[in-house]
Amino acid sequence: MKRNYELATAWRIVRQEGVVSLVKKFFLYLRQMRDARRFAAERRGLRPEPAAVVDFSASVCGGLIRPQQARSEILQLATLVCDRKPKTVVEVGTATGGTLFIWCALAAPEATIVSVDLPAGIHGGGYPAWKTPLYQSFAAPGQRLHLLRRDSHDPDTVREVEALLSAKQVDFLFLDGDHSYEGVKKDYELYAPLVAPGGVIAFHDVCKHVAELDCHVDRFWNEIKQGRRHQEFIENADQGSCGIGVLFV
Ligand SMILES: C[S@@+](CC[C@H](N)C(=O)[O-])C[C@H]1O[C@@H](n2cnc3c(N)ncnc32)[C@H](O)[C@@H]1O
Repeated sequence: MKRNYELATAWRIVRQEGVVSLVKKFFLYLRQMRDARRFAAERRGLRPEPAAVVDFSASVCGGLIRPQQARSEILQLATLVCDRKPKTVVEVGTATGGTLFIWCALAAPEATIVSVDLPAGIHGGGYPAWKTPLYQSFAAPGQRLHLLRRDSHDPDTVREVEALLSAKQVDFLFLDGDHSYEGVKKDYELYAPLVAPGGVIAFHDVCKHVAELDCHVDRFWNEIKQGRRHQEFIENADQGSCGIGVLFV
């Protein structure tokens, strides 16, 4: 059964955080709908340069699209993406759209970009339908951006991603969806075969997380990186969250 995003999210907030939190988030939600109208004007004149793009994504419209990343780490990954100018990008985990904005701003001007997120998914909760036009506006005129609001683990989603790429292999794959051990492993198994030789796979949240976050990407990352050419962007190994791991295919 397809559930309404807003109702499912409201119910989750009430269960996990209580009614007061729901009321506060409702007003934040209304403020975001208002702020989104300023986005296009604020973006005008933004230089396609990693630091400018990362800082813009974190601060525009009161944090409307703020990426869920540590600045120094995402800046290093943004620089890598900018240097490589990927023509095909696949992201699992759109959420607030922060990382998606960075990929669109720094990928090739003719890139095909696909971002997948499951409404009310774990580790972030997806995004409401009204944000779709905002995210679509991230694409440059020559880029094609496809937003799939569905489960990345569903084999039909993988088939749809392949169809949208029109037989092209992926230059840059960013895995930032389900952070459970089984979840990230499944995303890797399903999407890594689409990556081109010479391409890059980046994982977010490779640091050991504090237990409450129920995030075990670190376990999978420590297995998969063995014997492979890789790089880590980690501000502080004891930070208890974040950390980016990059595999060179
Ligand atoms: C940590 S957030 C992504 C943050 C985003 N990349 C950023 O930093 O701007 C993780 C997202 O993954 C989504 N997610 C969780 N499980 C998923 C699944 N099976 N399929 C697709 N998306 C999923 C959640 O709904 C959530 O919005």
